Amino acid sequence: MSVTVLVGTQWGDEGKGKIIDVLTRDIDMVVRFQGGNNAGHTVEIGDQKYVLHLIPSGIFRPGTVNIIGNGLVVDPISLQDEMEGLVKRGISVNGLQLSDKAHLILPYHRLMDAFKESQRAEGKKIGTTKRGIGPAYTDKADRCGIRALEMLDLAAFKERFTEYAEKYNQIFAAAGFETVDVAAEWPKLEAAAKYLQPYIKDTVLSVNMAAKAGKNILFEGAQGALLDVDHGTYPFVTSSNTTSGGACTGTGLSPRYIEEVYGVIKAYTTRVGEGPFQTELYGEEGESLRKAGNEYGATTGRPRRCGWFDAVASRYSCMVNGVNKLAITKVDVLDDLPELKICIAYEIDGKRYSEMPSDSKLLYKVTPIYETHPGWMTSTDNVCCWNDLPENARKYLQRLAELVDAEIGIVSVGPKREQTFEL
Ligand code: GDP
Ligand code: IMO
Ligand code: MG
Repeated sequence: MSVTVLVGTQWGDEGKGKIIDVLTRDIDMVVRFQGGNNAGHTVEIGDQKYVLHLIPSGIFRPGTVNIIGNGLVVDPISLQDEMEGLVKRGISVNGLQLSDKAHLILPYHRLMDAFKESQRAEGKKIGTTKRGIGPAYTDKADRCGIRALEMLDLAAFKERFTEYAEKYNQIFAAAGFETVDVAAEWPKLEAAAKYLQPYIKDTVLSVNMAAKAGKNILFEGAQGALLDVDHGTYPFVTSSNTTSGGACTGTGLSPRYIEEVYGVIKAYTTRVGEGPFQTELYGEEGESLRKAGNEYGATTGRPRRCGWFDAVASRYSCMVNGVNKLAITKVDVLDDLPELKICIAYEIDGKRYSEMPSDSKLLYKVTPIYETHPGWMTSTDNVCCWNDLPENARKYLQRLAELVDAEIGIVSVGPKREQTFEL
């Protein structure tokens, strides 16, 4: 038996979907534990490319149980769409379970997300995915959320939805903002609820029974540690615990079971949305990395901001997550660069920092202190083992691992399943 948590260690989009798909070869159950359809996890199999938002990335392995845990916020219409989309492409969703305790994202949450962003002044905007994530978690914490189990009683669900939509509409109307058209939204929600009913389960039991039975379980993190609501670059974060601790609260499995924490780490750094980005590259330098890595958001299509590897931030992430194995992705993207930089410390107001400060205001003032490494200037797309990597690539990756204090477990040199090797 093994229970593994896999998390993103930067600002998301590290390649978690791809690595999970590879790891699920030997996995019985994959469980998402936080976030919602703000996530976009890409899996490429053969000539097919899939982008998953709520469905765990184990869905492509027949026989694997895939669970949307209690820690998520779930937009029922979006989930139905995603499931139908997969079924149309010949992927079975029979092994999917939706936690009865997961909270729902309803149309007023999406509007509230857009409304709040519109109210934030320039420089204070978060650049959310506008999927209603923050407002749905707000209602959960405020104890007025609607949970998936409430979709089992349609009359009561309609009543609750209408009641809350009217409350939200008062706020929107007072601000002259768009309101929820309850009559138009309800039929879509009702259809989604009916479609999802057979999948709603007590997943806390499912996960615990699988763990007791000695199954191999993988917890799939979304976003990344630097977007964690407690540990990330607050307030420029998402509204959930993206770090490994979230796997326990978000699924109902005790930390006693967790043996391994995989940290997925890009060989450089990207960020979508607003907020500090200590090693960001601007102009031509940033653009060429974006082009080489095809760095455009899998959910919103926004160009991702790109920069050098930040060992200060990543070491902090690995510590908070307890990462013991690294999956380093997108090594191939650096193939054509004659020189690579790694940020090993920050200078802020003339003072050197070797640990990441908690205050985002300070992070905006960082001058990165870099060490420079020679590139390898050879294609790594077809490399299939550690010893076949160019020597400079091995040295660069070893230096990353040393700086973040974890061992390399997997290296990824392209988006396809085959472009991966374990150490
Ligand atoms: P996630 O949110 O962490 O699952 O990552 P995304 O799917 O949002 O973004 C990662 C992108 O990089 C996707 O388009 C993947 O297909 C792609 N990708 C993953 N690993 C590699 C790799 O090693 N090399 C290259 N070139 N692309 C990769
Ligand atoms: P995956 O799982 C990258 C970012 C948004 C925004 C902030 C808050 O694909 O790695 P939210 O809509 O969550 O309230 O937005 O978080 N963000 C992500 N960035 N990858 C993601 O997911 C993200 N999910 C949210 O861009 O800055
Ligand atoms: Mg993504």
